[in-house]
Amino acid sequence: MSERKELGLAVVGCGVVGRMRATLAKDFPGIGWIGLTDMNQKVGENLKKDIQADFFTTDLKELLNRPEVDAVIVATSTWAHVEPSILAAELGHSLMIEKPLATDARESAKVLETINTSGVDAVVGYTQRFRRRFLAVKERVDNGQIGDVTAAVTRAFMNRMAPTGEVRLTKDRRFLTPMVVSGTHSLDMCMWIMGPSAKPVSIFARSTEKILSDLGTKDATFGVFTMDNGAIWSMNICWALPKAWPGAVYGLEIGIVGTKGVVDIEDTHRDVVMASEFSQGPAYRPEDFVMEAERNVDFLTSFPPGDIYEGELWGPMREETNSWFQRIYSGKNTPHATASEAHRNLMLTMAMDLSAKRQCEIQLPIDPAELMSGLEE
Ligand SMILES: NC(=O)c1ccc[n+]([C@@H]2O[C@H](COP(=O)([O-])OP(=O)(O)OC[C@H]3O[C@@H](n4cnc5c(N)ncnc54)[C@H](O)[C@@H]3O)[C@@H](O)[C@H]2O)c1
Repeated sequence: MSERKELGLAVVGCGVVGRMRATLAKDFPGIGWIGLTDMNQKVGENLKKDIQADFFTTDLKELLNRPEVDAVIVATSTWAHVEPSILAAELGHSLMIEKPLATDARESAKVLETINTSGVDAVVGYTQRFRRRFLAVKERVDNGQIGDVTAAVTRAFMNRMAPTGEVRLTKDRRFLTPMVVSGTHSLDMCMWIMGPSAKPVSIFARSTEKILSDLGTKDATFGVFTMDNGAIWSMNICWALPKAWPGAVYGLEIGIVGTKGVVDIEDTHRDVVMASEFSQGPAYRPEDFVMEAERNVDFLTSFPPGDIYEGELWGPMREETNSWFQRIYSGKNTPHATASEAHRNLMLTMAMDLSAKRQCEIQLPIDPAELMSGLEE
């Protein structure tokens, strides 16, 4: 067996997700040097201490220019992926970027262009692809078991703890909508399962914001995409469920009907229910943020990254992160979302927001500049 060099990893953003992925990196045999950066010195220093990382700085450029760095994880807040992704791509580093690629379609296009021009391998954190149930479905749909897709429906219901945690670090919440931030996961899942033949040519959507307008975001967006072959897909998300709802984060249902069959996925996590005299609290616990949530009933496994057993994360984010290490270390083919798919996802989620805003059908594809000028009007 040929000797392989250990890879040097930079983790940009040391919050909940950066911490999970960096902790896995520490245990992966092919990863050697680990450097960290975060604008919050305390958060970064704590992670450095906990995983005995090699380096921490608050200066992004200093970290990414270190000679040890081969690959970069971008796990900054949802609206802060662009600068580190572009710099990492320009420096030729392999990339894993958290979703969404950006929160501005023009910036997302720029990130994609830089990745394509530099030729780096870049994947985006659509973590749910790494669950056995979805991989099994994908394999069968790819093999023609349901024939050609004619109609699909996606329903995502989320506890409002998710948007509450999401928006806490920024006042500019214009584009932190349910579709851009979280619906993107179920949109990606459905588009991925339907495969490259699903080409949306229009979207008609509506939103409501009765509950979460004080938080600066919307409650729900429901829409219908039409594909170039006439297939229809109803994509729906509401992230305003009460904090007492037993689902800690995400509950999903997907139905896809084809000319030869149907696939019906129940992923609401109602199959493992715990009730306790003790509060189950929030599943999402960023440092320095206390979420008030009295929940005595919990749908276990509804926290998308996974669950903790004896201090270790088990679940899709472990599979996804370790698969990415295999991908960059040994060139393994993996089902990660590409940057191009992530850009498509952002365009579709923002097109839903534009349709809801204009209260009319939007033709697709749409140019990123046109999309943004419509949303900024
Ligand atoms: N793949 C998944 O299943 C999944 C799950 C949750 C969150 N996410 C995504 O992961 C990302 C991080 O989420 P999180 O829950 O870890 O958030 P978090 O708030 O816990 O961590 C984000 C960290 O980024 C830092 N940061 C923000 N802007 C920065 C900048 N410009 N430069 C340096 N550091 C900066 C913050 O100080 C914070 O420590 C988000 O994009 C989120 O959408 C993905």
